[in-house]
Amino acid sequence: MSSGFFITGFLGGDGMIRKTAESDIPMIEQLMRSEPGFWNENWPNDVLKKAIRAADSLSFVWEEKGIISGFACAHDLGFRGYLSELIVSKAARGKSIGSQLLERIEQELKSRGCPVLISDVWKTAAPFYLKLGWRPPDVILLAKRL
Ligand SMILES: CC(C)(COP(=O)(O)OP(=O)(O)OC[C@H]1O[C@@H](n2cnc3c(N)ncnc32)[C@H](O)[C@@H]1OP(=O)(O)O)[C@@H](O)C(=O)NCCC(=O)NCCS
Repeated sequence: MSSGFFITGFLGGDGMIRKTAESDIPMIEQLMRSEPGFWNENWPNDVLKKAIRAADSLSFVWEEKGIISGFACAHDLGFRGYLSELIVSKAARGKSIGSQLLERIEQELKSRGCPVLISDVWKTAAPFYLKLGWRPPDVILLAKRL
């Protein structure tokens, strides 16, 4: 995995990770809607704005030639970090974009003194996380509909 945040001339790409801006929201929504089951039609209109603001600089995009093909959003809860969203466009998968977005979030959290990052993950994505060193903790996930 690359330790830098720029891949220039690698895989023919010229992409980079940068902090999410609110002006990215339409493209991020499009990216999330492109993955079946990812976007929830019941979410309020400003869901992404709220998530990015709540992320407090822990939200990043992968941008290449003005196109956003990756998005990750995490939250520093003090006791632990929580990864709330990670998505890479179908066309851009398998080029380390997802792992670099995660690595960037991990570095930011470490620099804030956060000791652990958690997330509920899609079953189909679990092998990706396990490959990157994530392990299931000794807890169960519960949810309550509000
Ligand atoms: C999961 C996801 C973010 C991975 O992004 P990506 O940019 O393709 O991942 P990377 O290229 O960084 O992959 C890193 C490694 O994990 C592997 N990997 C990636 N996705 C995988 C999957 N679904 N199953 C098994 N292995 C996977 C890659 O082959 C690669 O292995 P390698 O280092 O041996 O080559 C992307 O497939 C995605 O957005 N999926 C749909 C949405 C989703 O599932 N998001 C996570 C919700 S919790």
